[in-house]
Amino acid sequence: MLTAVLEPGGDLTTLLYVLSFSLFIIGIKQGTSPTTAKRGNMIAAVGMAVAVVTTLLLDGIGNWGVIVGGLLVGGAIGVVASIRVQMTEMPQMVALYNGVGGGAVALIAWSEFRHGAGGDFPLEEFVPILFAAVIGSISFWGSNVAFAKLQDLIPTKPLAVPGQQVINAIILVAVLAICIYLGINHDDDPSQGLFIAILVLAAVLGNLVVLPIGGADMPVVISLLNALTGLSAAAAGFSLDNVALIVAGTLVGSSGTILTMEMATAMNRSVPNILFAGFGGAPSGPSGSTEERPHRSITAQDAAISLAYADSVVIVPGYGLAVAQAQHAVKEMADELGKRGVEVRYAIHPVAGRMPGHMNVLLAEADVSYEKLVEMEDINPDMPRTDVAVVIGANDVTNPAAKDDPDSPIAGMPIIEVADAQQVIVIKRSLSPGFAGIDNDLFYLDKTAMLFDDAKTAAQNIASEITKL
Ligand code: TAP
Repeated sequence: MLTAVLEPGGDLTTLLYVLSFSLFIIGIKQGTSPTTAKRGNMIAAVGMAVAVVTTLLLDGIGNWGVIVGGLLVGGAIGVVASIRVQMTEMPQMVALYNGVGGGAVALIAWSEFRHGAGGDFPLEEFVPILFAAVIGSISFWGSNVAFAKLQDLIPTKPLAVPGQQVINAIILVAVLAICIYLGINHDDDPSQGLFIAILVLAAVLGNLVVLPIGGADMPVVISLLNALTGLSAAAAGFSLDNVALIVAGTLVGSSGTILTMEMATAMNRSVPNILFAGFGGAPSGPSGSTEERPHRSITAQDAAISLAYADSVVIVPGYGLAVAQAQHAVKEMADELGKRGVEVRYAIHPVAGRMPGHMNVLLAEADVSYEKLVEMEDINPDMPRTDVAVVIGANDVTNPAAKDDPDSPIAGMPIIEVADAQQVIVIKRSLSPGFAGIDNDLFYLDKTAMLFDDAKTAAQNIASEITKL
C-alpha cells in the first residue's frame, strides 16, 4: 500500500514544483535552437515527471487503482504512438494530444464542480472552473476537428453553414449568460444540468469555429488551440490549487499565443481574420482545376548541368522534402556544388512543411550549417541575382498567386519569390497541388523546368551527375 508523504502546499511540495517548472523553462529555452532542442525536450520531460510524482505523493491524492490504470494505459498509448508516428504526421499528433489535454481539463472542471456543488464554493474557485470547462471543451472539440482535417478524415477545405457567424455569436452569448447566472448563484446548489449545457455548447462552438478554416491557415489554428488548452489548464490549476499546473498551463498558453501571433504575421493574416473569414481551402474556380497545362520537363542530368555551372543557387525546401526524407541527399548535392565553387543557400519559409521549424529540423538533422539557412524576408531581395532556384517538394510557399491573385485562398501570404531568380527548377512527382489545394502558376513559367521525381531520388541522381561533369 502506497502512503502519501507530501503535504499539499508544504515547503517540500513547493520546492519540488519550483524545480519542475524551472526545468520546463530551461527546456523551452533549449528548444529555441535545433542543436539543443532534443536535450531541451528531455529536460522538460524530467520536469513533468517531477511534477507528476510530486502530485501523486500528495496527501489525499485519491484512488490509486484508477491512477495506476490511467498511467499504464496512457503511457502505453503514448509510447506506441511516438514510436510509430512519422515526422510528417507530427501536426496531427500535436492536434490530437492538444485535444486530449483540453478534454482532460474540461473533465477536471466538471469533477471539481460536482465536488464543490451544494457546499461552500468560493467565487475565486468557481470562476476558474467555469473558464476551464468552456475553454477546455472548445479546445478538445476544435483540436479533434483539426486532427480529422490534417489526417484527411474530413475535407480540408472550409466547411461552413450559412449564417455561421451569427450562430457562433448566439452560442457564445448563451455560454456567457449561463456562466454569469451560475457565478451569481454560486452559493446556492448550482445546477448540474446547466454545467453540462456549458460543456455541450462549448463543444458545438469548438466544432463550428474550426470546421470553416482550411488549407494554409490550419497551422495557425492548431497553435491557437494549443494556447487555449494551456490557458484552460492554468485555470484548472487555480481551482485545484496546484502551482505546477498553473505555471505549466501559463507557459503553454503564453508560448502558444506568441507562436500564433508570429505564424499569423508570417501568413499575413490577423487571427480574427483566420477565425472568422472562413477561407484557406481549395477554390472551385479555374486555379483549383487539375487540367494539365503546358510546361517544360527536364532530367536529372539537365538539372545537374544548370546547377554545376551556376554561381549562386538557392534551395527552397518544402513538405515533399520531409515526405521523401531527402535532407541527406540534398546536403550531398549541395556539397558537390560547393566543391565546384557554387554558393548554395537554403530559403526557409516560416510555414514550409507541416509544423513550425520543420525545415530547420530536417536540415539540421543532415548537418547543414545553420548560416546557410536564410529566412524568407532576407533571401527574397537576393532572388534576382540568384542563377538557379531549386524548389524541392515545396509548392504553396512559392505560389505567385499569393501576391498576384486577390481571389486566391492564399492571397496575401508572403512567399519565397523564386520566380525572380534567373532560372527555376522544381522537383516534385507531378503537377499536383500542395496543402492549400491550388494550382501553382510557377510550374508553367518559361524560366521554370520541372523535374518529376521523388525528392530524394532526384537529389541523389543530380549529385551523381554533377560528379561526372
Ligand atoms: P505543400 O504546398 O504542401 O506542397 C508539398 C509538395 O510536395 C506537394 O505539391 C507534392 O507534390 C510534393 N511532394 C510530396 N511528396 C513528395 C516526394 N516524395 N518527393 C517530391 N515531392 C513531393 O508544401 P509547402 O510548400 O511546404 O507548404 C506548406 C503548406 O502546408 C502551406 O500551405 C502551409 O500553410 C501548410 N501547413 C503548414 C504547417 C506548418 S506550421 N509548417 C502546418 C500545417 C499546414 P507531388 O505530389 O506532385 O510530389
